[in-house]
Amino acid sequence: MSEITYVNGRYIPTGEASVNVEDRGYQFSDGVYEVIAVSDFRLVDFKPHLRRLGRSLSNLDIEWPCSERVLKIVLTQLIKRNRLRNGIVYLQITRGVAPRNHAFPIEKIRSSLVVTVSRSGRPSAQKFTEGVKVVTMPENRWGRRDIKSVSLLPNVLAKQFAVQNGAFETWFVDDEQTITEGSSTNAWIVLAGQEVVTRPLGNDILAGITRMKLIELAKAGNIRITERPFTVDEAINAEEAFITSTTSFVMPVVDIDGKQVGTGKPGSVTNNLLTLYREHFSGSEEV
Ligand code: PDD
Repeated sequence: MSEITYVNGRYIPTGEASVNVEDRGYQFSDGVYEVIAVSDFRLVDFKPHLRRLGRSLSNLDIEWPCSERVLKIVLTQLIKRNRLRNGIVYLQITRGVAPRNHAFPIEKIRSSLVVTVSRSGRPSAQKFTEGVKVVTMPENRWGRRDIKSVSLLPNVLAKQFAVQNGAFETWFVDDEQTITEGSSTNAWIVLAGQEVVTRPLGNDILAGITRMKLIELAKAGNIRITERPFTVDEAINAEEAFITSTTSFVMPVVDIDGKQVGTGKPGSVTNNLLTLYREHFSGSEEV
């Protein structure tokens, strides 16, 4: 079955879908995006994704291309037309089409909306049972990482660095030697006494929806969470480590820069959190 993509009001076979060469997303990466999981035809955590999208848009002064209600209809239609039981929806909103000029266009333009679906992308079961490796590199991104911008060049290079080093993810490390986040994931460690630590929200990381949900689930399950920055050394010497994102759920980390973490196997706290998240994910109400 050929997949269907949504481009500015039209549902088009993906192979034929295209955007204007003067779209500011294409020319300046002047746009934002969301990746939302689909579980059994339902959008997982749709509302928080929509809230974050709204924040990204307003931070960049980009107009909504349509109402939130219409956006939901588009996503639901695309899931239906693609018979997408499980996978992800990728949606991108750019400032729109205008002759190339760095400053915002003076004339009011309509923002562009593109939505695609993907059936693949979920890590293998083996990765969850064995855990994954991460490597680190100096933080080199701009200061507004809380905006889910499509300007992802440093993240692309960081992920490539991971691939070239046989790792699953790269963690960015700031000048204080603390880990900010991964190229497309949030970072966590588990210390003695089962204390789970993750960096607090701020301009220096993306407010992951998986992160937010996991904190809620952990609190409800009486698992202690501390939001504070942690260093690479702390992570290497932690009992457990893991990463979270829409596409990698709660993924155990067993090796950082070639050094074993804990027993070198996924730890019990990580596995408990993964179970809690999976229950939330598959039982998730469409909201
Ligand atoms: N990435 N940090 C960064 C830099 C990210 O790009 C992502 C998501 C996350 C986790 O956010 P969430 O839990 O809402 O997925 C953290 C998506 C999946 C991507 O770019 O494909």
